[in-house]
This record gives sequence, structure tokens and C-alpha cells, in this order.
Amino acid sequence: MQINGANVLVTGANRGLGRQFARSLVERGAAKVYATARRPELVDVPGVIPVRLDITDTTSVAAAAVAAPDVDILVNNAGISTGANLISGDLATIRREMDTHFYGTLNVIRAFAPQLAGGAILNVLSAISWLAFDGAGAYHAAKAAEWALTNSARLELAAQRTLVTGLHLGAADTDMMAWYSGDKAAPEVVVAAALDGIEADRTEVLADSWSRQVKAWLAEDPAVIYREAAAALTA
Ligand SMILES: NC(=O)c1ccc[n+]([C@@H]2O[C@H](COP(=O)([O-])OP(=O)(O)OC[C@H]3O[C@@H](n4cnc5c(N)ncnc54)[C@H](OP(=O)(O)O)[C@@H]3O)[C@@H](O)[C@H]2O)c1
Repeated sequence: MQINGANVLVTGANRGLGRQFARSLVERGAAKVYATARRPELVDVPGVIPVRLDITDTTSVAAAAVAAPDVDILVNNAGISTGANLISGDLATIRREMDTHFYGTLNVIRAFAPQLAGGAILNVLSAISWLAFDGAGAYHAAKAAEWALTNSARLELAAQRTLVTGLHLGAADTDMMAWYSGDKAAPEVVVAAALDGIEADRTEVLADSWSRQVKAWLAEDPAVIYREAAAALTA
């Protein structure tokens, strides 16, 4: 899958990783970059085509698929992090996480799948797809669901030769992680790993050492995983 000359659509392209995807795609010679956002007037990347898209609104998604009818690569980046836990958190907030990461991403994939034969989908997941955090129960569940969606979409779209890639990362330096004072990857480093992965036809990209560590823990008993994760996070 070559980015040079491809038409690419990015969700949530007005800030954070999505804005960096749009910039890097232009730099790598994408023919068209549809930089979508709930408020497209906020898209400030030179050389892109701003398109209005709220991934949780099926009418908005259908309109975007008409406005961008020739997409080769879809980057499902849009996301939220509410900090809601599952037992104590507000149910409407928990549903909003699921509506965004799972149903929102699914809405976009369903609308654009007919355009993506021989193309690619990149879903921006997280190390938290695989590891629960107290204070991020809803985000963990929604990202785990989005990971499952990634795997099912890959199977369901194999017949039309659509590469479906999951990107996992720990922390990147964006608004979403502004509260976090630990190590954060630069958005351009994460995005470069993701785009290199697509160009190498990879089904999974682990963008940093934390996502590689969390993936390695999956083979362990949960008691071991959560003991080792707690130790690593307090080290
Ligand atoms: N930053 C990290 O450390 C990290 C780690 C792991 C995974 N991720 C994932 O990376 C992706 C990008 O996160 P980020 O760090 O760049 O976050 P961010 O800086 O908070 O940006 C989130 C983007 O998603 C958009 N968005 C949210 N809900 C949307 C909706 N319903 N429809 C369309 N756009 C919507 C936001 O638009 P508005 O401006 O309109 O709100 C914004 O453009 C997310 O999927 C996140 O879960 C991030």
C-alpha cells in the first residue's frame, strides 16, 4: 500500500494525532487528504481538503462518504477520553465512549468500505485496548471493542483485499494526555510508525515500548499482568 499518490481520509484531523496524520500524509505525497472534523473550519493543515464529519452521527458520515467518494486509505483516529469508570461512572458518559470508539468507527468503516477495495483502514487503538486502568474503565472497554472491530473488519474485508491495521500506543503528546506528566511520544513519531506500517502491509503497529510490553503481557494470567503493570507504572 503506497501513500504517495493515494487518497486518504482522516477523522478528527483538526488537532492531536489526526492533525499530524494530515500533515504527514501531505508530506508523503498523498494525492488528496480529506481532513475531516466536527468543525472543519478548525482544520489548519495546508494542502488538505476539509470535510465536516462527526463519526457518531450517521447522517454526517453518509454525507462525508458522498463528499469524499474516492478514498483509498481511511484513518480512523477520532476519539475521546472521559475518565469515566464503569461501576461508579455516569452511564451516559460510558455510552458516549462506546458510541465514539466502537459505533462511531464502525459507522465510518461501513460507509467507506465500498471505496476501500484494494486499499487500507488504519484504526488508532491504544495499549489500553489490552490493559484496564482505574480511572479509564469506559475508555478501556471502548478501545477493546474497537480492537475487536479491527479484527472482524479485517476478516470481513479480506475478500475485497482491504488491509486493516491496528495502531497501539501508550502516551503521545496531545490534548488528550495534557494531564499526564510522564514520557509522551511526539505525534510525528507515532504517525511515522503507523504510516510505515501501512506501507509495509502490517496488520498491527506497536508504536512504543509500552504498547510492546502490554502486548507481551497478554499471554500471562491477569493476576501477573496487573501486578507487573502496577510495578512498572510506579517504578
Ligand atoms: N494521546 C495519546 O496518548 C493516545 C494514546 C493512545 C491512543 N490514542 C488515540 O489516538 C486518537 C487521537 O487522540 P489524540 O490524542 O489526538 O486526542 P485529542 O488531541 O483529544 O484529539 C481528538 C480528536 O478526535 C476528534 N473527535 C472526538 N470525537 C469525535 C467525533 N464524534 N467525531 C469526529 N471527531 C471527533 C476531536 O475533535 P474535536 O476537536 O471536535 O473534539 C479531535 O480532533 C484517539 O482515538 C485516541 O483514543 C491517543
